[in-house]
Amino acid sequence: MTLNGDIVIKARRLTKRFGRRTALDGLDLDVPAGVILGYLGPNGAGKTTTIRLLAGLIRPTSGSAVVFGFDANDQYDVIQRRIGYLPGDFVAYPDLTGAQYLDYFAHLYGGVDRDRIELLTKRFDLDLSVRIGMLSRGNRQKVGIVQAFMHEPDLLILDEPTTGLDPLMQREFRDLLRETRGAGRTVFLSSHVLSEIDAVADTVAILRAGRLVTTQSVQALRDKARRRLDLTFAATPPADRIHAVPGVQELTIDGRTAHVVVTGSTAELIRSVGPYEVTNVVSHEADLEAAFLDYYTGRE
Ligand SMILES: Nc1ncnc2c1ncn2[C@@H]1O[C@H](COP(=O)(O)OP(=O)(O)OP(=O)(O)O)[C@@H](O)[C@H]1O
Ligand SMILES: [Mg+2]
Repeated sequence: MTLNGDIVIKARRLTKRFGRRTALDGLDLDVPAGVILGYLGPNGAGKTTTIRLLAGLIRPTSGSAVVFGFDANDQYDVIQRRIGYLPGDFVAYPDLTGAQYLDYFAHLYGGVDRDRIELLTKRFDLDLSVRIGMLSRGNRQKVGIVQAFMHEPDLLILDEPTTGLDPLMQREFRDLLRETRGAGRTVFLSSHVLSEIDAVADTVAILRAGRLVTTQSVQALRDKARRRLDLTFAATPPADRIHAVPGVQELTIDGRTAHVVVTGSTAELIRSVGPYEVTNVVSHEADLEAAFLDYYTGRE
């Protein structure tokens, strides 16, 4: 078991080159126990490369990945049973049934509680008697999910796990992630689904062209994000006053309503219109997606 506060993943100057192409360039990253880390970045940024390095499947060109205090590459056999790994391109043995495939992994893991497999299978509405090659893409993905979670590992390393899942199953999966965190376990989750990261992740790390551009809490990102506020006044909105408030990015007046875009806290804005009679306030969700995308494109 790991304790909260322990560092489960420690990457130091972790670098991977394929020929002359640098897929990952000097990654320094600590992931504490009990955290869901969302790992984001555009196509080709190096997410899958990082995940393969952490799971000990490829050898770094330089630097190191240490998982539970063991070198991911040299001591792969020690950490293998303590991690659940779901590859992005999950292609299982097509001729095996789901049950046979999971049995095979249960054996590798040194035995798995049957009830646990059954519970997960039921939960994801999966038929294990079907050959994997005959399953739909989403159902195949579910076999991968059960395989990654069934031995209740302390660390889950998941590469775009909800690919192909329908909305109901995506929700089920998010619940599973939250329960996993609730049990003190750690999740390293790469995803392109920004709403998913928003919904479950505690921390985001954003990668661009092989380099880490930021690591911060989702809450911090949310606090800094743009927010839309519609303020309706009893009389003409005090445009100059609103404009002067720090953080106000945009202002449009539509009759008695002021549509305002603010970054950061809206407290100052609310205070500044205090002397005026406000008849209605509509506050929209922080635009976390825009904040994410700024990091993707380098506009941050
Ligand atoms: N086995 C390989 N041989 C050569 N180049 C590779 C190999 N694996 C990855 N790359 C290159 O490394 C870079 C990073 O790839 P990676 O798969 O890690 O990106 P990613 O962030 O997972 O992208 P995506 O969002 O599309 O999954 C890309 O330029 C890719 O072409
Ligand atoms: Mg990838």
